[in-house]
Amino acid sequence: MKEITKIAPAEGKLGILIPGMGAVTTTFIAGVEAIRRGLAKPIGSVTQLATIRLGKRTDGRSPLIKDFVPLAGLNDLVFGTWDIFEDTCFEAAERAGVLEAPLLEKLRDPLSAIRPMKAVFDQEYVKRIIGPNIKDKGTKMDKAEMLMEDIRQFRESTGAARLAMIWCGSTEVFHKAAGVHQTLKDFECGLMKNDPEISPSQIYAYAALKSGVPYANGAPHLTVDTPAMMELARDRELPICGKDFKTGQTFMKTLIAPGLKSRMLGLSGWFSTNILGNRDGEVLDDPGSFKSKEETKLSALEQILQPDLYPDLYKNIYHKVRINYYPPRGDAKEGWDNIDIFGWLGYPMQIKVDFLCRDSILAAPLVLDLVLFMDLAQRAGMRSVQEWLSFYFKGPMTAPGLYPEHDIFIQLMKLKNTLRWMQGEDLITHLGQEYYD
Ligand SMILES: NC(=O)c1ccc[n+]([C@@H]2O[C@H](COP(=O)([O-])OP(=O)(O)OC[C@H]3O[C@@H](n4cnc5c(N)ncnc54)[C@H](O)[C@@H]3O)[C@@H](O)[C@H]2O)c1
Repeated sequence: MKEITKIAPAEGKLGILIPGMGAVTTTFIAGVEAIRRGLAKPIGSVTQLATIRLGKRTDGRSPLIKDFVPLAGLNDLVFGTWDIFEDTCFEAAERAGVLEAPLLEKLRDPLSAIRPMKAVFDQEYVKRIIGPNIKDKGTKMDKAEMLMEDIRQFRESTGAARLAMIWCGSTEVFHKAAGVHQTLKDFECGLMKNDPEISPSQIYAYAALKSGVPYANGAPHLTVDTPAMMELARDRELPICGKDFKTGQTFMKTLIAPGLKSRMLGLSGWFSTNILGNRDGEVLDDPGSFKSKEETKLSALEQILQPDLYPDLYKNIYHKVRINYYPPRGDAKEGWDNIDIFGWLGYPMQIKVDFLCRDSILAAPLVLDLVLFMDLAQRAGMRSVQEWLSFYFKGPMTAPGLYPEHDIFIQLMKLKNTLRWMQGEDLITHLGQEYYD
């Protein structure tokens, strides 16, 4: 057994700061409010529902994760958001059309009280939408300072003891890390000079980290996945994680692909297509934003199957991912997969998946888990990239030079072992020899 990591207690309120108050954010906040009032259960949330086995299988110790590590309670959460639209959380939830009117009506008061702060926005990075609620004066550094002031005021007005920020705003267009992202000094110079390579999400992340707030990225764009932001997170001893919530089709992919590989079954092609009609779908209809998404969606399969190690099985996979904006569907996405596999002697077979999912219903519990675990990580003194939270992401961040782990079952084991490690419990390897001595 290792020594127990010193974890500061989860005392006081935890402020959740969210850039972007669209379908995911409103479904998350409304969900927490509904659960607090006993109107619903936190289905899909590992922090609220999952147990963790401790010790041997014969020990009979399987507490709930939330009883095993000190997490903030749902009654201690307070919310602050930014959006380019002025709608309250209630109006934005109605507009998003995810949750039904009778439930929203019961939550009208708490949701109407949440008004988004003015956003930092740049249409070069999100092309398909424009709104009035923006900070439109000053350099990028001035805007970062305005965000820091928003954070300071939020902390003061809510009395939050700790904060965590999670990006649930639109996906920004695809950009690779540029010179300005290499060091913190370059980045700060870039902010002052309005460098066009610095996106709004990076300005939020900078403001969060400078204010001592951990940052999680729910979208596929870079944000904290750059040397400059990693340097800032390290210096300030803050956790960061990302990228892109693993819901819907990629979630299915990371369930099926490790299974095929575990049996050494081959794959010749995987064609994935989606229809969705929410605002996210509209933004992703722009080729630049789709490119960001495509990168994280494509990378998972390659990493899981390791074609370099298994050329006979996975060398020539044809992998295609499509997202089609189709307004009648709203948030009720449909994802089709056609999977061409081959078995013994190369004989071909096919798998078809038709997942009629609800994007934001799948994403909301991930937001809850991520903010609670990021807050825990901070109290446990864990800084920089939180690889143990890869479980939640399509494109998990890692330290430079490390390949990410995409297999969801390995990711879950890693997550639970990290919790055991924090609390000084034995790690579980599943070896099991001791039962047969
Ligand atoms: N729902 C899922 O299953 C899922 C999965 C993976 C990733 N995501 C990502 O999560 C994000 C949110 O998804 P959603 O369905 O809620 O989208 P949405 O379009 O409903 O909401 C995004 C909101 O962000 C706002 N916004 C855009 N730029 C902003 C800025 N610079 N500052 C503040 N607000 C800004 C928009 O006005 C909009 O209200 C998207 O990037 C999406 O790709 C969602």
